[in-house]
Amino acid sequence: MLSDDLKILLASQFAYYLKAHYFHWNVEGSDFAQLHDFFQNIYEDAYSAVDPIAEYIRSLEDYAPGSFERYQELSQIPGQTKVPRARLMIEELLANSYTMVDVLNTCFVSATEENKQDIANFIAERLSQQNKYMWQLRSFLKDQRA
Ligand SMILES: [Fe+2]
Repeated sequence: MLSDDLKILLASQFAYYLKAHYFHWNVEGSDFAQLHDFFQNIYEDAYSAVDPIAEYIRSLEDYAPGSFERYQELSQIPGQTKVPRARLMIEELLANSYTMVDVLNTCFVSATEENKQDIANFIAERLSQQNKYMWQLRSFLKDQRA
C-alpha cells in the first residue's frame, strides 16, 4: 500500500538526512572543508524531502509518523553512533543511498499502481537527486589519476 511504503520512506529519509547532517558536523581530515560543504548539500536537500513525503501520506488520508521510536521501527537506514573516518563516512552514505533508491523504487511502483501520478512524479525527482549524490560520492572514492 502506498501510504505504508511512504511511511517507510519518511522514516528512512529522516534517518538519511540526520546521518548526512551528523557527518557534516563531525567530519575531519585534509578534505574537511570540501566534505563539510558536500555533506551540507546532501543534508539540506534530503531534509527538504521530509515535509512533502509526510504531506503526501496525509493526502492519502493516513497519518504521518513523527517520533524516533516509530522511525526506528520503520527506517531502512541504520543509525551511526560512532564517528567514522572521512572515507568511511562517504562509503557509508553511498551504501545508504543504494538503500534509499530501493525504498524510492518501491514507492514509485505503488504510486503507479494506485494511480497517484503526482506522487510518482515526486518520487522520480527524488531518485534523480539520489542518483546525483551517488555519482558524487563515488567520485570522492576514486583514486586521483596519475
Ligand atoms: Fe553547519
